[in-house]
Amino acid sequence: MNYEDRAQIYPEVRFSGTPSGRPLAVITGASTGIGYELAIQFAEHGYDLLLVSESEAVHDAVDRLGIYNVEVMGVRRDLRQETEIDAFCADIRHIDRPLAAIVLNAGVGVGGKFFETELCTELNMIRLNVLANVHLAKHLVQYMILKGEGGKILFTSSVAATTPGPYEAVYAATKAFIQSFATALHHELEEKGIQVTTLQPGPTDTNFFHRAGMDDTKVGVSEKDDPADIAREAFEGLMSEKSNIVAGSLKNKILTATVIPEAVRVSQHADMTKPGGASNVQGGPPPEAR
Ligand SMILES: NC(=O)c1ccc[n+]([C@@H]2O[C@H](COP(=O)([O-])OP(=O)(O)OC[C@H]3O[C@@H](n4cnc5c(N)ncnc54)[C@H](OP(=O)(O)O)[C@@H]3O)[C@@H](O)[C@H]2O)c1
Repeated sequence: MNYEDRAQIYPEVRFSGTPSGRPLAVITGASTGIGYELAIQFAEHGYDLLLVSESEAVHDAVDRLGIYNVEVMGVRRDLRQETEIDAFCADIRHIDRPLAAIVLNAGVGVGGKFFETELCTELNMIRLNVLANVHLAKHLVQYMILKGEGGKILFTSSVAATTPGPYEAVYAATKAFIQSFATALHHELEEKGIQVTTLQPGPTDTNFFHRAGMDDTKVGVSEKDDPADIAREAFEGLMSEKSNIVAGSLKNKILTATVIPEAVRVSQHADMTKPGGASNVQGGPPPEAR
């Protein structure tokens, strides 16, 4: 199929590169941050890409990834909406290729005191971080099994999955859900030749904290891991068939180790995420958060 044919058949999908027999990786939340860096990893290792995100930024990502010698497709879908998830699954069926890898990474946070935050923002976060991943996993796992070639699935969880998270209570709970769900799938899907891996990054330098309204927290202004390093570690761990990857700084590995009592972990978390906590950190919050 040539470039013009593809554009006519899939008018909502942005393309770069040429169709091929290369393995295909699907990545959600691939326009920026960890998802975009994961897309680079897959492209560098010879995978074609199907990227999905909510905003126009996914099309910019397709254009930027055009420098790699692989086919890149990108589509805008709001994964909080069931109809959009179904439309994305239909995109995949139209493309009709085995999925060598699926990365369920799209996610947002909501920071603040639970009794002050907006309920609708938190329900929308649950729609994206939890419901969309269950919905997509249901259809894409069945599709992978139908194609009969096995594959790899990476879920972006968080170090927050292992500790209840004051001042981002609902966010931490969404990640605890994903960690539990993905770990269970890891066991179920082994017999189908499908490998499921969870990725637990710690604070990483992306748009996440700003988008979560956490610019005025200690964690918001503290030094963070580079998303490119997180993605590199994630890709290597996925390829070496690890079931769980705690990526980034040593602090993340210590935080997720169960040797620290939960009450201590909860209060350490609260210290980092408390609104206004940034003023105790040298440099303080960025000007727009003051
Ligand atoms: N940064 C951290 O410290 C950290 C730590 C642990 C775990 N994580 C997890 O890492 C994942 C990626 O976050 P990030 O740090 O890379 O943040 P990010 O740069 O803000 O990326 C979030 C991605 O999710 C997409 N997205 C947001 N709402 C969407 C929607 N309704 N439908 C489809 N896509 C949507 C965004 O696309 P648009 O821009 O197009 O909306 C973007 O591509 C998340 O699951 C997050 O929970 C992050």
